[in-house]
Amino acid sequence: MIKKAIILCGGTGSRMYPLTYSINKQLLPLFDKPMFYYPLSLMMLCGVKDFIFIINKGQQEKFEKAIGDQRDLGIKIKFVVQDKPRGLADAFIITEKLIKDNSIAMILGDNFFFGNMLSPLIKESFNRSSGCNIYLYPSNKTSSYGVVEFDKKNKIKKIIEKPKKSNSKLIITGLYVFDKQVSSIAKKLKPSKRKELEIVDLINEYKKINKLKTIQLGRGSAWMDVGNFIDLQSTSNFIQNIEERQNYKIGCIEEIAFNNNWISKKNIENRVSFYSNTNYSKYLKSFISSK
Ligand code: TTP
Repeated sequence: MIKKAIILCGGTGSRMYPLTYSINKQLLPLFDKPMFYYPLSLMMLCGVKDFIFIINKGQQEKFEKAIGDQRDLGIKIKFVVQDKPRGLADAFIITEKLIKDNSIAMILGDNFFFGNMLSPLIKESFNRSSGCNIYLYPSNKTSSYGVVEFDKKNKIKKIIEKPKKSNSKLIITGLYVFDKQVSSIAKKLKPSKRKELEIVDLINEYKKINKLKTIQLGRGSAWMDVGNFIDLQSTSNFIQNIEERQNYKIGCIEEIAFNNNWISKKNIENRVSFYSNTNYSKYLKSFISSK
């Protein structure tokens, strides 16, 4: 059972300079909300209430402002500053004391997941997690990601980081579950050529001890890595398209918290004031009047 998640909101963001000189990219707008609302909402849909946000120095106040009063969301967020972008696996070293004796999920603050039955699939995997879970998605951009190759018996053969060529198109997305050993294993990793503690190396350690499980996200779901301007724009368009057609918001954290019975109508009213005169606050008003 996963009760806590790390949302990784640090990093250099060099592909989005000069914007990311002054602001972490996870605070930039993905259509009508800050980018980090989407990974946060997915974890909330999976029942997680307890969060650790990894952020860069000087960004905490900005994140706090973009979240507002956590009590109105029924969640708890702790901020941990990563003084240098030492890599994704470093997250488990700097949060060691907060992980304690539990398995933990980690999601990248610039990853967008969407799809019918996606959160039940992930939630179910959270309920029976042991060792490490990774979540795979078919992609034609294998040379940009970690790729998992399987043998004829469908057993994991190997994981290759950014291969020039591969016979698999299943890439590792930015969502992971690790058991309580994760910090001690992460501490033994050596930095890679680009001087980062690589998540693929951590995953490979779990593979060595036969504790790696893969969960495949269906082709009917969407996964987007929003790390550059083009992906930011196309993902924003995707969200706008769906929201306008359905009249439902994607990543509405208040709606999720209310449906999980974590908050009351009064909390939603507070959030209506928080969003002031926006479409988001209108959406919340009509949501609450239908309840
Ligand atoms: P990346 O997109 O791999 O790296 P980056 O954000 O530094 O961007 P760029 O390549 O443009 O320089 O990071 C994936 C996510 O992990 C993103 O949300 C930032 C976060 N991250 C950290 O929090 N700490 C780190 O040390 C690194 C490398 C990334």
